[in-house]
This record gives sequence, C-alpha cells and structure tokens, in this order.
Amino acid sequence: MLSGFARDFLAALATRPRSISPKYFYDVEGSRLFDRICELPEYYPTRTELGILERSVGEMAALAGPAAEIVEFGAGSLRKVRLLLQAFDAPARYLPIDISGDHLRDAAAILRTEFAGLDVQPVVADYTQQFVLPPPAGRGRRVGFFPGSTLGNFTPEESLAFLGRAAQVLRGGALLLGADLVKDPQVLHAAYNDAQGVTAAFNLNLLARANRELGANFVIPQFAHYAFYNAPLQRIEMHLVSLARQDVTLCGERFGFEEGESLHTENSYKFTVAGLRDLAGRAGFRAGPVWTDPQRLFSVHWLHAP
Ligand code: AVI
Repeated sequence: MLSGFARDFLAALATRPRSISPKYFYDVEGSRLFDRICELPEYYPTRTELGILERSVGEMAALAGPAAEIVEFGAGSLRKVRLLLQAFDAPARYLPIDISGDHLRDAAAILRTEFAGLDVQPVVADYTQQFVLPPPAGRGRRVGFFPGSTLGNFTPEESLAFLGRAAQVLRGGALLLGADLVKDPQVLHAAYNDAQGVTAAFNLNLLARANRELGANFVIPQFAHYAFYNAPLQRIEMHLVSLARQDVTLCGERFGFEEGESLHTENSYKFTVAGLRDLAGRAGFRAGPVWTDPQRLFSVHWLHAP
C-alpha cells in the first residue's frame, strides 16, 4: 500500500501548478535542518517568540490560573513549553498532540523527569484533522499552546477550520497562539534565504527524502530553492525550481519537468494583530491580551475559548 507521502507526491506531480504539503519536510533530516534554521541569525521568529514568552509568562500564568492543563498542538520545542510549565501555578497535566509517536515519547520522557508530579499524557493524532482528547483531568483550565507560527503554514481555510476545532476542545479555557507578523519584506526575504543555505537544504531535502523513501531519482543539484514574499497574499512562498528540462521517476511513474517549472513546497502566512484577532473571532474565540516584541516582529495571543 502507498504511504501518504507517496500518494501526495504522486498527486502533486500529476497536477499543474505542482504543489505539496509542507508537512512532508519533517523527516529526521528535515527536523534536524529545521532546528538549525531556528538558530540562524536571519530567522528571527524562534528567538523573538522565546523572548516574548520569557518576558510575559507571568501574565500568561495568571490568566491560566492554578492546576491548568496544557494541550500542545505538535510536540515541537521543549524550550517553549518548559517556560510555561515552570511559570504556571502547579500545572496538572501536559497533553502534547503529535503525529509522530517517537517524537512524543522522547518529549514526554524528558518532561516527566524534569517535572516530577506532572501528569504527561501524549496523544498520537493528526491535529490538523478531527481528534479526540481525554476528558479534562480536574479543576484547572485547559490551555492550548500553538507556538512558532505553524498556523502560517496552513491555508486560510485550514487555519479557520483548525482554530474552530481548537475552540471546541479548549471550551472554557484558552489558546496561547504564536503568530509571525507582516513586516519589511527584506527582513522576511532574508529569513527564508539565509546566507548559509540551511533553508535551501531544508527545502531540497524534500526531494532527497523522496529519493530515500519513494525510490525517486531526483538529481538534487538540478533544482533550486526559491523563496520570496508575496506581498498581496501576505505570505512567503517556497518553491523548488527545475534548472533544466528533465524526467524524474517516482514510485515507478515518470514525470517531466520543464526548465523553470516549479514544485510549490510551502506557504508561510504572515499576520497583522488585527487580522489574527478577527480570524480567531470567526473561529469562535474571544481575543484577549496580545504580547509583541519591541520591534513588532512576532506576536503571541491569548484567545479565550468561551
Ligand atoms: C514551521 N514553520 C512555522 C516555519 C516557517 O517559518 O514557516 C517553517 C520554515 N520554512 C522555512 N523556514 C522555516
């Protein structure tokens, strides 16, 4: 039987314009490259969001109240959730939701040793689809945590649908959401075109992954990383552009690439504070406090789930 990756890659190559979900970036090598991106001087989102969390986690803890239950969408950076777990008043339970069971088990094991007495219950599920959570544990609020502006990698329709589902599972609690902001296009351009070429390697790893897992024969140097800011749509677009007329075989099927033809691999939407609050309102949240850094590069939102 074909994997989801195989099915989606075949469908992407059979359609014009060609495009595939950015979720396939994150195999072991892609996750390692993404961790390197987060440390790059040009890639400001990670360190800026961490700075906002460090500065304002006391206010966030007060809004969460005692014995809160933290539901993290994706078991991403332990550094970020650790800040919440340290600052919140006796958090009762941590529920990380991730599609990768291995990733979840590793994160859970680390946090269990660091926070003795914390109930850590990993949930293996795709949070971009309908999912079920265990019933609330006790008396505290349920606080969702979705940092990193991962919301920006969804289409606007997917964002609305995800937020709608989040508002339901967090009913009576809140969502703490990180969202990257619109800004000088040069700053955005640099963040996705770093001097060391790590973002290019991250993008091209999608083809290397297809070679490894799907028996494809992409000649990696025959494709170029191309990332630009599409200002009217307020998003960074990442593409892989064919540098020559070439044929590629994937899962036994042959596909032609014209010179200059692109495979669209990612959108990374940027938000205004007002636009994000409006989107959250349409999904069923009531927008609360917003924290930003002094340069207004990034925003963190407290969204009440009534
Ligand atoms: C995970 N996501 C929010 C990153 C972003 O900025 O959209 C992924 C990324 N793509 C290129 N650089 C980083």
